[in-house]
Amino acid sequence: MKTRYNAGAIALHWIIALLILSNIGLAWWFNTLHGQAKIEPVQLHKSIGITVLILSTLRLGWRLAVPAPKLPEDFRGWEKWLAQTVHVLFYMVMVGLPLTGWAFSSASPLIHVFPIVLFHLIPWPTLTPLANLPHDQMKAAHDFFLAGHGLLAKLAYVLIVLHVAGALKHQFISNDDVVARMVPFLRLRKTEAT
Ligand code: HEM
Repeated sequence: MKTRYNAGAIALHWIIALLILSNIGLAWWFNTLHGQAKIEPVQLHKSIGITVLILSTLRLGWRLAVPAPKLPEDFRGWEKWLAQTVHVLFYMVMVGLPLTGWAFSSASPLIHVFPIVLFHLIPWPTLTPLANLPHDQMKAAHDFFLAGHGLLAKLAYVLIVLHVAGALKHQFISNDDVVARMVPFLRLRKTEAT
């Protein structure tokens, strides 16, 4: 039986994690800036966020096609439930956070002044139905998706704390192989790698 994730799934996990953490750090930083100084970091934030959207869609498709290795047999019912719930919510955040960002950025007259160009190289489309709304509806859509973006960011903070706490508990208290499934250089303790 497979005990580790495959190399592609491991690579995507760590790249997406790094990009999400970088984008959160960037957002905390640009929230302290004003005027011109904010533009470049916000544009970079959009590029990183869209990259997360692309990679997360890929990861989600892969996850649905290739099931994750089974959790250890000694996992209790509530542990399985919590791990699976956190994973499902993570996928919602990984796709929903960038989608809401793309949506509220599109529902703004500013999108014509600052269009999304991934890393100054690849033009990324605007969600035109949102960009073409009448003024009042555009404002309502902008505020709706902005609020969603903020809420999903808060959900991301909770999930990151739960996810890291779970990993630390398994690695240092339960002493099992849960973390080694996603960290290739950790030796498996109880089961053989496949
Ligand atoms: C990994 C994906 C993303 C993460 C983790 C993320 C995270 C965040 C966070 C934490 C904030 C601050 C929210 C607050 O202050 O309550 C923020 C704001 C923002 N995000 Fe994102 N975001 C992501 C993707 C995107 C995408 C794809 C776009 C647009 C294409 C975007 C556009 C923005 C903008 C324009 C702001 C507000 C800037 C301002 O205050 O003027 N984000 N994001």
